[in-house]
Amino acid sequence: METILTRRSIRKYINKPVSESLIGELLKAAMSAPSSGNQQPWHFVIINDRRLLDKVPTFHPYSQMILQAPVAIAICGDLSLEKNKGMWVQDCSAATQNLLLAANAKGLGTVWLGVYPREERIEGLRKLLNLPDHVIPLALVPVGYPDEQKPPADRFNEDRVHYNGW
Ligand SMILES: Cc1cc2nc3c(=O)[nH]c(=O)nc-3n(C[C@H](O)[C@H](O)[C@H](O)COP(=O)(O)O)c2cc1C
Repeated sequence: METILTRRSIRKYINKPVSESLIGELLKAAMSAPSSGNQQPWHFVIINDRRLLDKVPTFHPYSQMILQAPVAIAICGDLSLEKNKGMWVQDCSAATQNLLLAANAKGLGTVWLGVYPREERIEGLRKLLNLPDHVIPLALVPVGYPDEQKPPADRFNEDRVHYNGW
């Protein structure tokens, strides 16, 4: 509960690289997500080339923080791995959330940048990362050591809870 309730979007990072082993742990968390029929239709593209990171804001309007991030991870769905059509979005979303939570538990800051279903962002990342046609980027997650602190956000809202019907 602590990891879940203290996760916030972190958009400022200190100038410090994130080790490969930590990235590996985040990926392990992401790939342990549930998926429809256990199809695991995901791929993860690690971006630590500064020239690539710096190009993201040219096609993604809400991604300025990536200019400071040492690394980002693109979470992509592979349509050729889908057994249950259309479920890849939920599968990859679950993987993305696991990744964010694992990062928080490890003292790293992240923010979920929405890509799918915005056509210009999908095509921008496709070109930047050379993604094949059957692979669709769902989200891009900058990762870094936080340079801002945010209190937990209490969003529990009784009005949104319904028992046995609306
Ligand atoms: C599907 C999705 C897309 C998002 N896209 C962006 C984005 O493009 N840029 C950004 O700065 N934050 C983005 N966010 C982060 C939200 O703004 C953030 O989660 C929300 O304001 C709640 O704040 P918190 O994450 O600190 O709890 C996105 C979050 C989700 C789940």
